Amino acid sequence: MKLLVCGGAGFIGSNFVRVRMRSSDDAIVVLDKLTYAGRRENLRDLEDDPRFSFRHGAIEDAEAVAAALDGVEAIVNFAAETHVDRSIAEPDAFVRTHALGTFVLLEAARERGLRYLQVSTDEVYGSIAEGSFTESSPLRPSSPYSATKAGADLLVGGYHETFGLDAVICRGSNNYGPYQYPEKLIPLMVLNALAGDRLPVYGDGGNVRNWLFVEDFATAIARVLADGVAGEVYNVGGPDECANIDVVRRILALCDRDESLIDHVTDRPGHDRRYSLSSAKVSALGWSAAVRFDDGLERTVAWYRDNDWWWEPIRDGAYREYYLRQYGRALE
Ligand code: NAD
Ligand code: DAU
Repeated sequence: MKLLVCGGAGFIGSNFVRVRMRSSDDAIVVLDKLTYAGRRENLRDLEDDPRFSFRHGAIEDAEAVAAALDGVEAIVNFAAETHVDRSIAEPDAFVRTHALGTFVLLEAARERGLRYLQVSTDEVYGSIAEGSFTESSPLRPSSPYSATKAGADLLVGGYHETFGLDAVICRGSNNYGPYQYPEKLIPLMVLNALAGDRLPVYGDGGNVRNWLFVEDFATAIARVLADGVAGEVYNVGGPDECANIDVVRRILALCDRDESLIDHVTDRPGHDRRYSLSSAKVSALGWSAAVRFDDGLERTVAWYRDNDWWWEPIRDGAYREYYLRQYGRALE
């Protein structure tokens, strides 16, 4: 099979491509705009494989999409702006990529009769105090990020209902693992802890996330791509939930640092308290998570410790400016 993977130079997309190339004979074309979060370095070990090719372009650019589709049988769309804090500061790109970009991809899939998988998020359901969201829970997004992701999901559903597009949606919980940009909680805290810098915890640190190792999300997406029923949504939740403050304490312990590095900083506006997904529907397709949080977190810390070639360039330049704006103090 030949796949077009949009946003394949980002964190989850690159892990998906790696897992897929290891476990199948697929040929893969990655189409990526290479925003600050998209990096060729994320695909460095795959570039010499003749089954792999890369195209630099945006999903909202219909010509770039058409040029990438030669011989392709299915589209998997990871391309997105993904950081909630950035969506609060500068929502424009979120609207453009999630609304216009998804529309362009859907049109391309419709014209050619391709299967289409939209990668989405638990954040479209909003916060849940107890229990877990199922696929029929109402959408109540809280941020410009999650609202535009929810809009994209609704557009996918509309294309299935109206045009019969062979489309499925996969909504994942919080992913973590290698190659995640260090603006997100786990890589940010790991790199700050390794450097002996302060760890900025929003509010009281009691917000709870449902942690999913990135390779487990990749195998779930592959499963839904193969066997998911057109028009259906599949939730993919991690096996363990954890409050942010406990995530940070575990990271400090893994990095041999003490808790005096923790800084409680101003909370994120509209901050969702807890996410939780029921994965019963994707489990019925034969998927289950292979990696528990304790083990995955240890592997993740080890990966960042061993791969400074990957993160050192990020911690220079534009990322320093972002950090200063976001946290009001410079990175050490
Ligand atoms: P990421 O920010 O690491 O990567 C996003 C990628 O998309 C980057 O390579 C970027 O260059 C590319 N991109 C952005 N705008 C584009 C555009 N207009 N055209 C082409 N490429 C573009 O994000 P991620 O964490 O890997 O997330 C991937 C997908 O998974 C997103 O759709 C996100 O909503 C979803 N998701 C993420 C998580 C998580 O915890 N990170 C959980 C569930 C779902
Ligand atoms: O739930 C899936 C979502 O997970 C994805 O759809 C998003 O793309 C992804 O960014 C992530 O969103 P979150 O907002 O949950 O992730 P983030 O890593 O930004 O924050 C995780 C939690 O940690 C959240 O409660 C906010 C908190 N946090 C985050 C940062 C960056 C802090 O306390 N301090 C920080 O510096």
